[in-house]
Amino acid sequence: MNRTIMMPASVDEAVEALAATPGAVPVAGATDLMEAVNGGRLRPAALIGLGRITELRGWRYEDGGTAVLGAGLTHARMDRPDFAALIPALADAARTAGPPQVRNVGTLGGNIATGDPAGDTLPVLAALEATATLARPGTVRDVPISHLLTGLDPLRPGELLTWVRVPLLHAPQVFLKSTGRSGPSRAAASVALVLDPARRGVRCAVGAVAPSRCGRWRPRAGWPAASTGTPAARTEPSSSTPPHSPRSASTWPAPASPKAPCPARGGPGRRPPAAYRSRAGPPGVGKGAEVTDELLNHPGAFPGDVRPTASYTLRVNGVERPVSDAWIGESLLYVLRERLGLAGAKDGCEQGECGACSVQVDGQLVNGCLVPAALAADSEINTVEGLSGAGGASDVQQALADSGAVQCGYCTPGMAMAVHDLLQRNHRPSDIEARQALCGNLCRCTGYRGALAAVQAVADAREAALEAELDAAEQAAAGAPHPPPAHPPPSRPRRPRPPSSPSPTSRWPASSRSTPTPNSGTKPTS
Ligand SMILES: Cc1cc2nc3c(=O)[nH]c(=O)nc-3n(C[C@H](O)[C@H](O)[C@H](O)COP(=O)(O)OP(=O)(O)OC[C@H]3O[C@@H](n4cnc5c(N)ncnc54)[C@H](O)[C@@H]3O)c2cc1C
Ligand code: FES
Ligand code: FES
Repeated sequence: MNRTIMMPASVDEAVEALAATPGAVPVAGATDLMEAVNGGRLRPAALIGLGRITELRGWRYEDGGTAVLGAGLTHARMDRPDFAALIPALADAARTAGPPQVRNVGTLGGNIATGDPAGDTLPVLAALEATATLARPGTVRDVPISHLLTGLDPLRPGELLTWVRVPLLHAPQVFLKSTGRSGPSRAAASVALVLDPARRGVRCAVGAVAPSRCGRWRPRAGWPAASTGTPAARTEPSSSTPPHSPRSASTWPAPASPKAPCPARGGPGRRPPAAYRSRAGPPGVGKGAEVTDELLNHPGAFPGDVRPTASYTLRVNGVERPVSDAWIGESLLYVLRERLGLAGAKDGCEQGECGACSVQVDGQLVNGCLVPAALAADSEINTVEGLSGAGGASDVQQALADSGAVQCGYCTPGMAMAVHDLLQRNHRPSDIEARQALCGNLCRCTGYRGALAAVQAVADAREAALEAELDAAEQAAAGAPHPPPAHPPPSRPRRPRPPSSPSPTSRWPASSRSTPTPNSGTKPTS
């Protein structure tokens, strides 16, 4: 059995694997973990993927009016109407937790285990007085989320977060978040307010407002008693982040040898993956700096000397692609580009911020830079290379070009994948739905008007082609000769239209909507 990559199918198996493999790291959606690996702050000795533990991906009711949520619930799942009816404030938080590519895979358990002060679910869980179930071989314990976050009772080494118990209050509750920009972003400040009818009070917890734990908030004299506060959901990074948290870089071992060789530097002209390049290198050296021997050998470049490898097979665009002896920290983006020669997905930030690396894994749009390639071994991977069957541009790619959404082209493969993903799920998206779907894809050249127009153009063309097909089928059934198609074929939409249903939040004047131009328009908001 490969002890560097493990994919347990049950909680018990995962707990055993975690206990049996020192230095192994549990991985759920990997959005926080790969950010740390790509940033050179984490060198896992082994990865324990939690994605196959189906019991952790759902929720159930328990006697006494409690919802038991699996740690593997994704933000996207918590945003759906059935969950929103159950715990509205948690659904509000999940809806804003990053761009779609991150919310599709980022989990509740990962959010709690990371314990980032800006974690969106944390104030909600604290205000709801939720508890976490932590498991290790032979031991299961329940800890209040607020104790876990504030370091009173932190996650211990080898413990797996399995369930989160949330009392159902059936009363108004809300999560509000302020960010520094219009697109999806981490909270600059957040607050959860929960009405507690049984205690005739309002519970409040705040997030992302200070780097240290807050005490109990007292209402000012004269304020109604019902607005009494509860302990705030704040974290103290030095004490509350778990031992394997990607954010607690200081807990990781120091480099054993400052002269450790770089395994990625195998051939001439080959670019080391991000994690081999240092962001903690000599002062003044940052992303984009030339990779030199001096930088690679700088002590800060290798916070750990563990670089285990694995061999596996990826299924990319329907074709089996073997990968041999690859470091387990390599991202899917790196493996696609550097090992498999599929350079369509672009490397823009390696931090999940730009969306240039967007691909589909098992039908979900994700950032390739945040997926550990080894954990995608049994998945169906679709890249931009697979969009067009016969080698030409697909209807989505052609529409992007026709509508002026392509200038330098760096964002285009990711944008094409995002539009493709949207239209697979929603054949007739509204303007606001299209904006929300594309908000994880940054374009520095053209603005977003062209991309939004392309969405509507492809939707129109596909609808027209479908109608023409149905008409032809009806006429064939009636024995009449086939008329020529009334509309252009779906693969070449000639006249892209502006968004057909402008939302009230549109920032463009109505008169300019039909004339998309480069370098205009605003970024879609989430
Ligand atoms: C571009 C970007 C934007 C983001 N924006 C937001 C935002 O707006 N709001 C927000 O809250 N978050 C945001 N995040 C952070 C991240 O998406 C969330 O924290 C997410 O919930 C993490 O879940 P995950 O499954 O990806 O965790 P992973 O990355 O898989 O794991 C994170 C950590 O938790 C540990 N872990 C995971 N599951 C368990 C478990 N069951 N038991 C024990 N340990 C476990 C892992 O070992 C790891 O140390 C953003 C991230 C990115 C990259
Ligand atoms: S989001 Fe992956 S490279 Fe920017
Ligand atoms: S076309 Fe240049 S970044 Fe989008």
